[in-house]
Parts: sequence; C-alpha cells; structure tokens
Amino acid sequence: MTLPLAKDFSHLFSDETNARKPSPLKTCIHLFQDPNIIFLGGGLPLSDYFPWDNVDADTPAPPFTKGIGYPITDLSTDSISKLTIHKNDKPHEGDIPLARSLQYGFSQGQPELLDFLREHTKLIHDIKYQDWDIIATAGNTNAWESTLRVFCNRGDVILAEAHSFSSCLAAAQAQGITTFPIPIDDNGIIPEKLEKILDNWTPGAPKPKLLYTIPTGQNPTGTSLPAHRMEEIYRIAQKHDFLIVEDAPYYFLQMDKYVKDVNERTALRSQVKKQTHEEFLKALDKTFLSCDNDGRVIRLDSFSKVLAPGTRLGWITGCKSILKSFVSLHEMTIQAPSGMIQSFVSGTLHRWGQNGYLDWLQGLRHEYTLKRDNAIDALHEFLPKSDAFVINPPIAGMFFTVNIDASAHPEFKTKYESDPAKVENAIYEKVIQYGVLIVPGAWFITEGETNPPQPAESKQVDNPNEIFFRGTYAAVSAEKLREGLKRLGECLYEEFQIAK
Ligand SMILES: Cc1ncc(COP(=O)(O)O)c(C=O)c1O
Repeated sequence: MTLPLAKDFSHLFSDETNARKPSPLKTCIHLFQDPNIIFLGGGLPLSDYFPWDNVDADTPAPPFTKGIGYPITDLSTDSISKLTIHKNDKPHEGDIPLARSLQYGFSQGQPELLDFLREHTKLIHDIKYQDWDIIATAGNTNAWESTLRVFCNRGDVILAEAHSFSSCLAAAQAQGITTFPIPIDDNGIIPEKLEKILDNWTPGAPKPKLLYTIPTGQNPTGTSLPAHRMEEIYRIAQKHDFLIVEDAPYYFLQMDKYVKDVNERTALRSQVKKQTHEEFLKALDKTFLSCDNDGRVIRLDSFSKVLAPGTRLGWITGCKSILKSFVSLHEMTIQAPSGMIQSFVSGTLHRWGQNGYLDWLQGLRHEYTLKRDNAIDALHEFLPKSDAFVINPPIAGMFFTVNIDASAHPEFKTKYESDPAKVENAIYEKVIQYGVLIVPGAWFITEGETNPPQPAESKQVDNPNEIFFRGTYAAVSAEKLREGLKRLGECLYEEFQIAK
C-alpha cells in the first residue's frame, strides 16, 4: 500500500522560521567530501591537526547475559565489545571516522548514526505517511528549544499536561509563550476535557499551535497514556489543527505491571525475562508517531536515559518539510551534536546491531522494573495506612508520586488556613529535616492564561486539596531507596499525627 505524503504545516511556522534564509556557506559544505573538488570555500581546519586517533572504548557485548549494570572489568573478554574509532579508517560499517565527525558539516547528523536510527524507528513505530525522516539533536532539551523557535512567536499559546516538566515549560515561558494546562488523571491527558477546552476556546485568543506532551513515564506524574486516549488526542489535534510534540526520553523505561503479591510477581517476572524481541516490541506503548497520517507529530527521542545524559545526543522524528526548518535553525545554533559522541554512539550501536540494542533496552526494562518494585513495596510498607496517601505504581519512567489529600491534615483548617499549598510546603521542609528529598508537585504546575482568558471551568480541577510529591527510584541503590522511603514514612506519620 502506498502511504500518503505528509500535509503542509508551514502555516504554523514562527516569524523567525519564515524569516530565516539558508546560510549560503552551508549550501556548498557537502562538496567538502567530494574528492574531485579542492575545497577552499570554508574555514575548516585540517583534520591532521585534530589531536585524536585510535580512540578506544570497551562496552559490554549483547546479549548482556550478566545484566546491563554488571561491572565491565569483571566481564570475560567474549562479553566485551571493543570499539576503536580511527581518524580516517572505517574498519566497521557503522564507524564514523574522526576526521569527518570532528569536522564541520552534517548538521542533520552523521549518516551512519542516522541510518541506524532510521532502522530502529521502523522497528518501533508504524508511521503512516511516506516522507518522514530523522535529524540528530543535542538531546531533548535542545530539540524542545528548537521546536519552540521553529513554531512559536512571542504571545503564542501551547498546550501542556497540567503538571509537566518544569524546564520545558520554563523554556517556553521565557520566550513569551503561554503554556495552557490540560487536565490529567492517573492515565495522563483526559481527551474529553481537552476537546471541551478547544471547542469552547475564547474567540480572539490565539489558538494553540502545539501540544507538548510526555506520553510515556510522564515527568512528574509517572503516568502513561493508553493507546485509545492517544488516538482520541490525535483526532482532536486534526480537528483543531495543532501539532503534537511527543517528548519521549522515558519511552524505553517501560516496566512490567506492579504486582503486590511477591510470589505471584516472581512467577510473572521469570516469564517476562525470557521475552523474545517480538514480544518485547509488541508490549511497548503505542506512540503518537504511530497514529500519525498527517505528519503533525514531532517526536523527541534522547539517549540520556538509555545510554548516558552526558552524551547530549538525541533525535527528532517528523515529516521532512518540518525537519528542514530544524536543520536550518541548527546550522545557526548548535551546528551539529558533538562529533566525538556521534562516532562513539554510532560505533557502539552498529557493533551491537539492532538486536543487540533491543537486548540492551530489554535489560533496562528488567532493571527498572526491579527498582520500581522496590520503591512501591517500600512505600506500601512505610507510608501511613490511610486513604489520605495514594500511590499509583508507574508502568514507565523514573518517577513515583505520593498523592496526598491535604485536607486530611489535622491542622489543615487552623495552622494551614485550608490552603493545600501551605501543607505541601510544610511537608517539603519537614522531609528535608528527616534526611530525604522528594519534590513538591507544585514545582511542575503548568501556569498560563490566554489573552483574552479561557472560561473558568477550563481550568477547574477535580480535587483542589490533592497535592503530590515526586520521587525517583532511578538515582540510588536499593538500600538507600528503602532507607529514604522509611524516612519519608516517619515524616508523614509525624506531620499528620498518625499513631503507628
Ligand atoms: C520530560 C523530559 N524532557 C526532556 C528532558 C531532558 O532530556 P535531555 O537530556 O535529552 O536533554 C528530561 C530530563 O529529565 C525530561 O524529563
């Protein structure tokens, strides 16, 4: 079946994008690689002067039978993948010689890395139009900032989950963009409420251009959006003509469902550990990219949570006509992600192969499932047994939340003047005294109002007294995590004056 071409979304471009002329110097940079051309056109230093050659790295080799966190120094030689990046040679198909990666050029990303990622994209997503592609980025922070600049002007409006990743909200707000909150529940964005808000959008207020969403392993709420909601939201995006920006750094930190009963859990986990790649791929969450017939989804992927944050490497998937504007912007901003890192990551991934990378991702799934289980077990053990404290075990990402009914505090009406924010603040200060840090949900509130404003009911929340705290099970050892959550429990017993 021939897939359709993406639609034209140039009417959503920012003034900056419309004004940007291609850099004339970039139009001839490809000729630098042409052996028939003596290239005197640009300020490119001679690669002989690059002080790196034969850069070695050891990585564990698939199928990572000892687990992905096993110390490499304890692995036998056949379990180690040796990687040497040369200056000019390319001993392995996916290698990017340093003479090229450390040079100017290839703003879209080095071809070998892009080839691997395109293949990977085909395994994970089912994109329903022809002309999609990917570009490399310096991670999702960079990709999001670029997205804002490609589409938004000062005074524009974007939509975001009512609690969302504060840095991304702040990036938009600093550019004079209004971030308008969309109600969420334990499964993420509520499509009916999104549609109602848009159907009743105040005449004269700028219509939103983008929905910024973290569908899988949401930060901070830890929720994941079910497939049927995704399809509904996509339909609403078509109806109201906005783009969906799918920020997906946690996509591969999907876990098996939390099972409270330990015996039942152990039996289930041993089956899942033996999953084939096909079963693993089938179990992954649906993505907005896989709903996309129009080319209106911009997906931001990152190696930060699956390889290492300091790689500062990620990629955007979207329709070619939109990506062209990103490349033009990157030519004038980051130019390209770090060449050294592109060589390293491409060399590693090509040695592992697509199947080896899936082994790695499966290993991560296993590790994070154990971490999440530890955290939720400890929360069940140590938190006060009261309906005022609710835990929703996440199925993806790095975060758990402790949801608290602030009105259950014995001094809610007196000391805290019926203000849930004051209870939240008091808990935050107290947990630090108890020697553990979790962060208040209020730090992640999507604040913003259009001009003229939206109807009051568009911002109504179901339970205004509900507050929450975000914690992670990713950052510390199992013992420290347990100790931290014990301290949290003790703090809440004390603060809410509950007898043990
Ligand atoms: C939702 C979300 N987006 C983006 C980022 C940043 O990702 P990167 O390291 O790829 O810039 C984070 C990091 O915590 C995040 O939680």
